[in-house]
Amino acid sequence: MGKLAITGGEPLRQAPYPCWPTYTRAESLALDDVLSSTKWGGQPFPGKHAVAFAKKFAETHTAKYAQCVNTGTVAIQASLKAIGIRPGDEVIVPAYTWEGTVGPVLLVNAVPIFVDVDPDTYCLDASKIEAAITPKTKAILPVHLGMRFADMDAILRIAAKHKLKVIEDCAHAHGGMWMGKGAGSMGDLGAFSFQSSKLITCGEGGAVITNNLEYFELVQSYINAGRASLTDHYKKRIIGFNYRLGEFQAAILGPQLDRLPEQAQIRTKNMLHFESRMKDTPAIGLLKPDPRITRLAPYGYVIKYFSPKAKEVPRANFVAALQLEGVPCDGLFYEPVYKSSLFPVDSADFPALSWNREKVLDLRSMFSCPESERAAYQEAVWFPHQNFLGSAQDTDDIANAIHKVLDNIEELRGLDHKAIRNQKLGRADRES
Ligand SMILES: Cc1ncc(COP(=O)(O)O)c(C=O)c1O
Repeated sequence: MGKLAITGGEPLRQAPYPCWPTYTRAESLALDDVLSSTKWGGQPFPGKHAVAFAKKFAETHTAKYAQCVNTGTVAIQASLKAIGIRPGDEVIVPAYTWEGTVGPVLLVNAVPIFVDVDPDTYCLDASKIEAAITPKTKAILPVHLGMRFADMDAILRIAAKHKLKVIEDCAHAHGGMWMGKGAGSMGDLGAFSFQSSKLITCGEGGAVITNNLEYFELVQSYINAGRASLTDHYKKRIIGFNYRLGEFQAAILGPQLDRLPEQAQIRTKNMLHFESRMKDTPAIGLLKPDPRITRLAPYGYVIKYFSPKAKEVPRANFVAALQLEGVPCDGLFYEPVYKSSLFPVDSADFPALSWNREKVLDLRSMFSCPESERAAYQEAVWFPHQNFLGSAQDTDDIANAIHKVLDNIEELRGLDHKAIRNQKLGRADRES
């Protein structure tokens, strides 16, 4: 029997971390209000809660307009339609992200072009974008991943130079600010998810924000079966679908947004404390802070684990050991999308991969993004944001568990354990 919980020792922590999502009486009252109104449909039928939420959500992110939609994936898809992405166009995406960033590009029959991430932030590496631009490139789709921002200054500069549109995937960045500008408000459109793990959530949902009325109108039409938008200033007519967010879900979002600033403050304080505890821990690296991030939106707190500085013990063993000490965390949280089992792309299903191409594009084999692969398969360790919603002691326990595991790292060498085997699999392939 060893000292670590995974080898039979006492776990450092028995108490659970705060659960997520949370709700208060405000959500119950809002749901009752919708129920008794019998106006349950998505906006504009009529969507009192959705409209009020969208107004406040846009303001929070320094944007003029916001439209609720039924998922974050749809928020990206609707944004791609709004900027006029057509079959065969190329859209630059980071390799290290959730598949939901990339799927919508294929859904509008465009071609995702994967670019590597910056090892300092794990976000799209702006310095590698220009090499990926071709005459077919129409847009850049950066993701503000985990707790950092893609370098929006550089990305907007490149976009302006090459006349490209920018859609910010802000699924992790609710309330975040870059140089005083809200996440999603700097590009042409910003796409948010309200799926149940997100910083504000209604179970499933999303929103698109923009400062451009024409795009706003196109998004409204696209998600509302092609109907004219409420303002219809630009009189654009497109085929649309029903991607509306129901009013019960919209009603929950208001109170969630109200609590966001207070929760962000708690998370930020605890995370800064955690960082002070990680100083002088050679096996652990932190993502580089960027003073241009003027309001942090930490969705997942991400650290780097350096196996060569931990007696070559693989990350799966380290993460599994931490989990058994009572600290929820994940290593293989994302894979480079082109390698993920959730990306079994078949070119027969996506004609753009062969149209006007000398060779059919094989998206699974044509990219190599070493930083994304290092983050995905070796280094990154993700802690859910709710780990940092508790007390200073809860936060200290994360640091204490990391130190305990590192101090006893020898116990993990060559160890076989179900939790380790599970950690070697991508999230979609694991036993739950
Ligand atoms: C980075 C990123 N993009 C897009 C999405 C898609 O959002 P949804 O799950 O609401 O469709 C997610 C959600 O998990 C995400 O994390």
